[in-house]
Amino acid sequence: MPDKIPGPRWKRPAAMRGAGNQLTLLQSMRRQYGDLVCLTEGSSLFREITACAGCIAAFGARHTAAILTRSDVFHTPPPLARQLGLPRSSQHLSSGLFSMNGAVHEQRRSWLTPLFSQKSIQGYQEDIAAGCADFLDTWVPETTIELLSEMRRLALLMLGRVLLGRASAHQDCIALLVEELLALRRAIGEDIRQSQRGRLTLRLSECGDQLENALRTRIRECRDGAAGVRCLLSRMCGAQWISDDEMIGHVTAILLAGSEPVAVCLTWTLLLLSQFQDCDAGVRLDWVIKESLRLFPPNAIMTRLTVRPCELDGYSLPANFQVILSPWISHHDEERFPRSEEFVPERWATARPTRFEYLPFGAGSKHCLGSQLGMAMATTSLQMMLARYRFLRLGDEPVDWKISVTLMPASDILVRLRPRRG
Ligand code: HEM
Repeated sequence: MPDKIPGPRWKRPAAMRGAGNQLTLLQSMRRQYGDLVCLTEGSSLFREITACAGCIAAFGARHTAAILTRSDVFHTPPPLARQLGLPRSSQHLSSGLFSMNGAVHEQRRSWLTPLFSQKSIQGYQEDIAAGCADFLDTWVPETTIELLSEMRRLALLMLGRVLLGRASAHQDCIALLVEELLALRRAIGEDIRQSQRGRLTLRLSECGDQLENALRTRIRECRDGAAGVRCLLSRMCGAQWISDDEMIGHVTAILLAGSEPVAVCLTWTLLLLSQFQDCDAGVRLDWVIKESLRLFPPNAIMTRLTVRPCELDGYSLPANFQVILSPWISHHDEERFPRSEEFVPERWATARPTRFEYLPFGAGSKHCLGSQLGMAMATTSLQMMLARYRFLRLGDEPVDWKISVTLMPASDILVRLRPRRG
């Protein structure tokens, strides 16, 4: 029974207020109760899940593997649009891979996987670099930028080029709508007053409708061959058996899931490099990115929901029970990653964690579809930005962080663009 699992078993999530932010809270729960902790009974934690029976947190590679490899039992929770009760028209905006489970997920995944494989993504290297070059042309040396906002613009530009094509008239409009949609989703997820929530949800729905219209037009162009054959969407549209409605869901999921984690990964990496100026000269960039994703995995917390009663490590869990996993906690395990709080890119010369100990891209059947694309965007853009600029952070107060869908700085970071000589 879950009641045998040790833990505070809060009856109302409000009871955890004042216990620190989500990651500190999980960290202290693990220290106090061990690798399986029953956090709440009768409600979900961190995000609303209707009729949720309770919530446990599972830590350690063994539990992480047991949950992520049993996709028949542990599903991803329903999408935000359904939870918020948005109109049906807005719902296929969140009907991409994320919210699919079981046989449908498996089939759609095997259709999309070759399109996002390393070999396929290599063919988009030029588009990624061209998107980044256009972006860099908008920067003026010796000016101050808001780093996270700029990295969001950059990530969307690169992703838009790959997914929607170079000359797409809709690209700018789609990028702006995605930016707004992401901002609204973050705001709704944060602890806001009910009156504000209504207004934001309405705007989310309007914004979703506009994005849907723009994507529908682009999908038509791709289906009719008017968009050429190069962009990823044209190749996706080759699957005539996927309806336009469903295609909109997949493209939206890719735009949302593909831009924000890349933007926060670039922000954390540049911030780390700005603190360790001597490091950016010599250390391998792939180690720097890996280490940045270890310290600040964008998906610091992942959730699953049991779809039927099941057993976990000898305990039985009822259906509709929330399970919380945390790559951030795995990555900060001192035994696995000595000096875990420090930025040590050189550790990757020898570190060989298993895929359930180091999992910035998740693991199991729902691991990140875009890991190759995400790494290609991060590596190429960092190379290009670092070749032109040093990033000097203004001020030296400690950077605070928050989880607002992804793990990001609590407020945007001002940096000065110092051109490199020569
Ligand atoms: C640094 C960049 C990225 C990071 C750290 C990241 C991280 C993740 C993680 C942790 C998951 C698994 C979530 C879970 O199991 O609950 C995931 C899934 C996913 N990611 Fe990424 N991601 C990145 C970039 C991208 C890009 C560029 C795309 C664009 C294609 C993308 C598309 C997806 C999709 C569609 C899924 C859902 C897969 C499924 O349910 O089968 N991601 N990502």
